[in-house]
Amino acid sequence: MKLFSSVKDVTDVNQLVSEAIKLKANPFADEQLGKHKTLGLIFLNPSLRTRLSTQKAAMNLGMQVMVMNMDKEGWALETQDGIIMNGTTVEHIREAAGVMGEYCDIIGIRSFPGLKDRDEDYSELIFNKFVQFCGVPVVSLESATRHPLQSLADLITIEELKTTAKPRVVLTWAPHVKPLPQAVANSFAEWMNKADYDFVITHPQGYDLAPEFVGNAMVTNNQDEALAGADFVYVKNWSSYQDYGKILSDGDGWMMTNEKLKLTNNAGVMHCLPVRRGLELSHEILDGPNSLVLNQANNRVWAAQAVLKMCLTHTLSS
Ligand code: CP
Repeated sequence: MKLFSSVKDVTDVNQLVSEAIKLKANPFADEQLGKHKTLGLIFLNPSLRTRLSTQKAAMNLGMQVMVMNMDKEGWALETQDGIIMNGTTVEHIREAAGVMGEYCDIIGIRSFPGLKDRDEDYSELIFNKFVQFCGVPVVSLESATRHPLQSLADLITIEELKTTAKPRVVLTWAPHVKPLPQAVANSFAEWMNKADYDFVITHPQGYDLAPEFVGNAMVTNNQDEALAGADFVYVKNWSSYQDYGKILSDGDGWMMTNEKLKLTNNAGVMHCLPVRRGLELSHEILDGPNSLVLNQANNRVWAAQAVLKMCLTHTLSS
């Protein structure tokens, strides 16, 4: 694997999930595989889980890890080609990515959207420039439109806990005070479509995801209808895709609560974290037996380890 940016980069999703579950049972089985190999983690935005779980995964594989907080510690990056750099940007992404590729065998990069220009965000400008110019395998640590390591961890969590072959999985929009990217919701939808579950998306009017991510999901603005009989409920806020980057309502009544849980099939409740307690998800759910948020966070390690293992195996065999 040279690129992990989307479910489309995975040849066999079931095999990747099985690999992650095997690594969870035996984390150090491949501790020699990454010996003398370096993973560079580049963050243009904050992170807790992605940073620590990917480092832990790399260390389990025997890799060295370097982390660069590019937004705070790096030179201001220029992304436009052919520009005269007489403004505030100091280093062009062509050189920056190329240099990092000289030091690393695999690069992970996190690059959030600006939420101002939809076409620019959905073109994945920064992520794709890194892929183009670094010359080594690249793993997305969350890009403008997708968060594939999170989605893989979410799929592992559902596969571990499901009690039917085709569970009902509901992605429900939740309120938030800040406009958030669509990346987690897009990505979750993309992976759920691939898994061929009974997949439902519910959100207030105006929050439709891009059609390429909705896929075959049933979509409804009626949250109660969506939750009926759900086996898993994935709670997440996202800003509007149509009225790009905007918050359209305060989302009153959309927070997932124990009262709403009664509509479900005693569903496991999921969230990628960080979560705003009492706004996106109730305290009672987060502190109760239906919460799967720590299961998901735990599975971030095995998702990352399975992906890094695939990258290393490719690197070693090429
Ligand atoms: N879920 C997730 O990606 O968490 P971080 O933003 O803290 O990495």
